[in-house]
Amino acid sequence: MLTFSSENNKVSPQQNKRYSDRLVPYIKHLQEVAKSKKYLAPESSIVLPNDSHAIKQVQRLAQTMSSRSLKYVIVIGIGGSNLGAKAVYDALYGHTDAYMLDRSPKLICLDTCDSASLESVVEYLKKNITSEDEYIINVISKSGATTETAANMAYLFQASAKKLPKFNSRIVLTTDRGSALWELGKEKDYPTLEMPKQVGGRYSVFSAVGLFPLACLGIDIGKLCKGAQWSIKQGLSERTDSNSSAMSAIALVNYYSKGGRIHDTFFFAPALETVGKWYRQLFAESLGKVPSNSKTREAISITPTVSIGSTDLHSMAQLYLANPSSRFTTFVSVKNSAHSQRLEASDWTNLVQGLKGQTMFGLMSTIYRGVVNTYTSKKMPFITIEMKEYSEFVLGALMQMKMLEVMFCAHLLGVNAFDQPHVELYKKEVRKLLE
Ligand code: PA5
Repeated sequence: MLTFSSENNKVSPQQNKRYSDRLVPYIKHLQEVAKSKKYLAPESSIVLPNDSHAIKQVQRLAQTMSSRSLKYVIVIGIGGSNLGAKAVYDALYGHTDAYMLDRSPKLICLDTCDSASLESVVEYLKKNITSEDEYIINVISKSGATTETAANMAYLFQASAKKLPKFNSRIVLTTDRGSALWELGKEKDYPTLEMPKQVGGRYSVFSAVGLFPLACLGIDIGKLCKGAQWSIKQGLSERTDSNSSAMSAIALVNYYSKGGRIHDTFFFAPALETVGKWYRQLFAESLGKVPSNSKTREAISITPTVSIGSTDLHSMAQLYLANPSSRFTTFVSVKNSAHSQRLEASDWTNLVQGLKGQTMFGLMSTIYRGVVNTYTSKKMPFITIEMKEYSEFVLGALMQMKMLEVMFCAHLLGVNAFDQPHVELYKKEVRKLLE
């Protein structure tokens, strides 16, 4: 499903053994967490893909709320509360949605405070919605008190509650039990899905946070979770030399220990750009903090960046290739494509030698091979992940593989992968200003 290669990562066998010896006890701990099927440990997001009760509950509510007439799933949430669902949707449909206007239902995300886009979304909805079964509004917030989320819902309510049919009956909440949003749900009788308390936003894609909107969008969440289960099986293997999450974490931490400070995930698949953004949050928010045993109190600083092939070769390649040791790269490519139309001879194929007879997918693969060869010859550190195809299963596998990788990085770096003290700092400051 995912083929992982770690050939150019520059970890010596001795270093590899040292890292591996530190990871194995942690892997054993994760095996216990997965076996417990309980949401008690900070790592309990790994229980989610096997939680058939929670998955069925999501499927049932999605079935009750959805019908063939459903046109729009409006997600109001930010960061960990919307990026996972958006990543999966964009990878499967969103990237080309503008050209596939007949595909329904569509995902509409409202995250930041932007009156221009809010206004246009409201106008669009008013114009296109004629009955209540054409839309669902899912308000997602773990804390239940995030400024942007509350403001977006307040705006939508104010601008459309009287214009869209049966507005209140189309609202579903997803939040922690006991949050202010949870209490509002009880008071107003909105259907409310619970997030397990121990699961943080950035690890929540396989909880109701990601699964409910995806199920409403007609995405097979059973297959998505099966893919995640596949990666949990691989990632909880103590054989770290064949465990992709462990190998990737070891390569990254080794690179950091030698002074490297940038991790670029280079997707040779434009549809995965939002997966890149989801991963950027997961990586930065989990690792950018002071290690528990640090004397200097200096925070870990590996900046995650996202590049898209081949587009960014035309904007970033000069910088990347002129500074061969300045970043660690994870290349992500897709092996199979459903599209195979070949370019027939024309004035246009004559412009570039060798173009005639190519498929678009073949061209991308050739460019990708050229880039990997260049990185190899310049001794740039990288690993590769090849996805078998775009599918729910493979996306679930990729996202779970990455969540385990980040947990392993945090363990090796000595940081808590599950808190975000500095994010809370600015949130408090904003609340103070608003008051
Ligand atoms: O991962 C995180 O903790 C953050 O990105 C949160 O998901 C984000 O700030 C939104 O918070 P909440 O879900 O509480 O509205």
